[in-house]
Amino acid sequence: MEDERFMRIAFRLARLGRGFVSPNPLVGAVIVQRGRIVGVGYHRRYGEAHAEVRAIEDAGEDAVGGTMYVNLEPHSFHGKVPPCTDAIIRAGISRVVISNIDPNPKVAGKGVEILRKAGLEVEVGVLEEEGERLNEVFFKWIRTGRPFVTLKFAMTLDGFIADSRGNSRWITSEKSRRFVHKLRAWSDAVAVGAGTVIRDNPRLTVREYYAPRQPVKVIFDRNLTVWKRWEDYRIFDEGEIILFNSREEFEVRVRRAVVRGIIASSIEDALEYLGRNQITSLLVEGGSEILSRFMEKGLFDKVYAFWAPKVLGKGLSPFGLFDGNLEERLRLHGIKRLDGDVLAVYYPARK
Ligand SMILES: NC(=O)c1ccc[n+]([C@@H]2O[C@H](COP(=O)([O-])OP(=O)(O)OC[C@H]3O[C@@H](n4cnc5c(N)ncnc54)[C@H](OP(=O)(O)O)[C@@H]3O)[C@@H](O)[C@H]2O)c1
Repeated sequence: MEDERFMRIAFRLARLGRGFVSPNPLVGAVIVQRGRIVGVGYHRRYGEAHAEVRAIEDAGEDAVGGTMYVNLEPHSFHGKVPPCTDAIIRAGISRVVISNIDPNPKVAGKGVEILRKAGLEVEVGVLEEEGERLNEVFFKWIRTGRPFVTLKFAMTLDGFIADSRGNSRWITSEKSRRFVHKLRAWSDAVAVGAGTVIRDNPRLTVREYYAPRQPVKVIFDRNLTVWKRWEDYRIFDEGEIILFNSREEFEVRVRRAVVRGIIASSIEDALEYLGRNQITSLLVEGGSEILSRFMEKGLFDKVYAFWAPKVLGKGLSPFGLFDGNLEERLRLHGIKRLDGDVLAVYYPARK
């Protein structure tokens, strides 16, 4: 129980890195001596010190003979920073408790082996499932080479994401909209279909939450309909933009934005491209056609449905073009109240 309690603290520390450490995993570490925390650390920013090293620095002499709790197996190779296994051994830690083995082939059990060989006691698998969930983005990307895909939409009480004329602004409360900005800040990229750019003219930036960098903006624009009239749309005001289309590859600067046209014959192609370019997470914000295609092909890892107590009578449904049975596709994970709205979170049913 003691082990689980300290591991939960490591998880909470790890979460502080959301939006800062990609494409690295979220990692938190706690050093404990006879029931007391003597050092804490987390991976704060990509390229900076790892959680284990920060916790060791924090503990100083108190680390000697202590137990380290760390959610992910310490890495054992010379990368951007020296191996954490060396630092742990040097600090005189005597026991290491780990939640998950690092699936990165450069680590994958080697870290544990090195620590054991050096005489440290190592325990693996404490709160393993929670650890998997904490790093669901990193694990998905490292195992498949594709980003973790989250579908997100806001709908009325009667199940519409826009009215019959295609207007969808302000369905949800301010609190829900702020939450969406948080989701954007934690994502490497945010995507919409051409139809949504045309109807809603979104900026697709993070404005109501601190983001060390803006997510890449992705537009599914098969026939370059949006691109042909880029002057009309705010999405081209700034940032890095990828336009998946079926016609041409290009790279152009417009306003304060860099726009890259990429040919992708399918959503799968697009996801492969993003994964190869260090995009570990993709937040898909609609519209109806794009959501339906991702659902149809089972190309999603999580769904956020915001549900607001408004009634439209008729309109556009989030998965209107999907023919199958949604009940069979989705497993409800949790419900949260956001002012007057309800947020339902789902995972794919097979997981
Ligand atoms: N409430 C909400 O949460 C919310 C969120 C977003 C949008 N909306 C509403 O949804 C409506 C827009 O939805 P929509 O279904 O009309 O449009 P959409 O899903 O935003 O975009 C559809 C377009 O995506 C392109 N596309 C589809 N698959 C593609 C692929 N594999 N590669 C490249 N491009 C691809 C197609 O372009 P081509 O036409 O060139 O083939 C298609 O026209 C608007 O009324 C908006 O207000 C609501």
